Amino acid sequence: MGLCALLHGAYMVAMFDFTPDPDAPKADLYATLNEAADALTRDEPDGVANMANVAALMGEFISDTNWVGFYRMVDGGLVLGPFVGRPACIRIPVGVGVCGAAAKGETQLVKDVHAFPGHIACDARSQSELVVPIKRDGEVVAVIDLDSPSIGRFDDEDRAGIEALATLLSDRI
Ligand code: SME
Repeated sequence: MGLCALLHGAYMVAMFDFTPDPDAPKADLYATLNEAADALTRDEPDGVANMANVAALMGEFISDTNWVGFYRMVDGGLVLGPFVGRPACIRIPVGVGVCGAAAKGETQLVKDVHAFPGHIACDARSQSELVVPIKRDGEVVAVIDLDSPSIGRFDDEDRAGIEALATLLSDRI
């Protein structure tokens, strides 16, 4: 993995070259993902750009997923943000579905979405889901949503890795 910066006229352009190791322990995989996310977002003030790049990173690093991305808190409800996957539900009220539950402030690790009351099936392939709130000054400002076509895809190591990512992004989105 390497990050190099090229000077194009007046603009610094970051080119990111990485090859996630599919056999790496999850803790190492998330450490590398979060280093990459840090490098890509630390000097960029635009939150949409940062969410877009981190969604792309999650899509590259996190295997067996069919949707990875963000919902942002806008006027008291969740609104679709940058993602990798099929087109998805645009607005989700707080308290509705897995994302709406996470928007109340607690990570939701759902082994089987069909057993989750009120689960919103944006993509019929999704079988399990991990949603982590991003907080700023104690308030939820967005959630990170990961969907997998496999039952039980996410565990406590995924939770820890994505919670660390959420902490990193707190003031960068
Ligand atoms: N399944 C989510 C909706 C968002 S999609 O998965 C992208 C939910 O129940 O909130």
